[in-house]
Amino acid sequence: MTTQKILITGGCGFVGSNLIRRAAALGLSSRLTVLDNETMGSPTELPSNVFAYERGDVRDLATMARMAAGCDAIIHLAGHTRVLESIADPESDFEINVRGTLNVLMAARDAGVPHVILASTGGALFGAETAPIHEEMVPQPLSPYGASKLAMEGYAHAFASSYGLRTTSLRFTNVYGPYSRLKGSAVAHFFRQILARQPITVYGDGSQVRDFVYVDDLCDGILQALAASASGVYHLGSGNPTSIATLLKSMRDVVGPEWAFEVRYAPWRTGEVVRTYTAIDKAAKAFAYQPGVTLDIGLPRTWRWFLDQ
Ligand SMILES: NC(=O)c1ccc[n+]([C@@H]2O[C@H](COP(=O)([O-])OP(=O)(O)OC[C@H]3O[C@@H](n4cnc5c(N)ncnc54)[C@H](O)[C@@H]3O)[C@@H](O)[C@H]2O)c1
Repeated sequence: MTTQKILITGGCGFVGSNLIRRAAALGLSSRLTVLDNETMGSPTELPSNVFAYERGDVRDLATMARMAAGCDAIIHLAGHTRVLESIADPESDFEINVRGTLNVLMAARDAGVPHVILASTGGALFGAETAPIHEEMVPQPLSPYGASKLAMEGYAHAFASSYGLRTTSLRFTNVYGPYSRLKGSAVAHFFRQILARQPITVYGDGSQVRDFVYVDDLCDGILQALAASASGVYHLGSGNPTSIATLLKSMRDVVGPEWAFEVRYAPWRTGEVVRTYTAIDKAAKAFAYQPGVTLDIGLPRTWRWFLDQ
């Protein structure tokens, strides 16, 4: 695996910047190339000696074709990631997540790249299904973001059967950890509110359940899927249900009395999924995915990073 040349699209973002550090720690760094259009991240915050870099856009096929040449694998993380923005502007979401992914797959096919790993989503593909969600369930996306990720998975599957490309769609749950300053997800948002000494708003009574996975566990899962040459669709999460109320209690313990915060309750938002978490058995079986960082370990690490900023 250490001899591979790996292209990471969206490598300057939250998951990408953690993945690059994780890969560097495992000795994979000298073969990494990052492509990012810098809308949601910057290479200046990354350890510059561990990867080659180009600023560019996955929507540009010529750029993708050039970047894919000579690669052994592509980890496609670049994407439009905001659910509410996708509802306001489904076309932009489509262009980045569907057109961009099609370009990645065509470039991989034409350059003979054997393996493409794609970042999909667990939560946005399912509505009110009985948790835990798993790979056998029929996705029913509730937002254009979810629909674009499902289309992405469809193209990945089609390129595998039509052109023999190995493709792996990894459905992430709610990822948290360092380098999440720009993320709108619960942990990052709540920590930012606490640092700004602003109250945290909870919609409903805090009983809604989510699956929070620490970013290092997720990155290990991505690298394990790569090493095992896994193909198909896999859910990557913690496998543990955590209510927002429990999360906030843990956060209160982590930040201590110096950063005591107020929680305000607002009416439930229409369409909000009450209970979702993921089964991880398929990934565990296929490439020994075994997330080990529980909230009581991951939250203090994340808080320390936010405090340092
Ligand atoms: N973070 C999560 O909780 C989560 C959950 C489910 C799925 N995902 C998926 O994982 C992937 C990575 O997520 P993230 O949290 O790191 O997001 P992020 O927004 O932090 O990172 C995405 C990166 O892609 C870049 N990018 C955006 N559009 C681009 C384009 N057209 N061309 C090139 N680069 C572009 C951005 O500049 C950014 O650096 C995304 O595809 C996202 O949909 C993330």
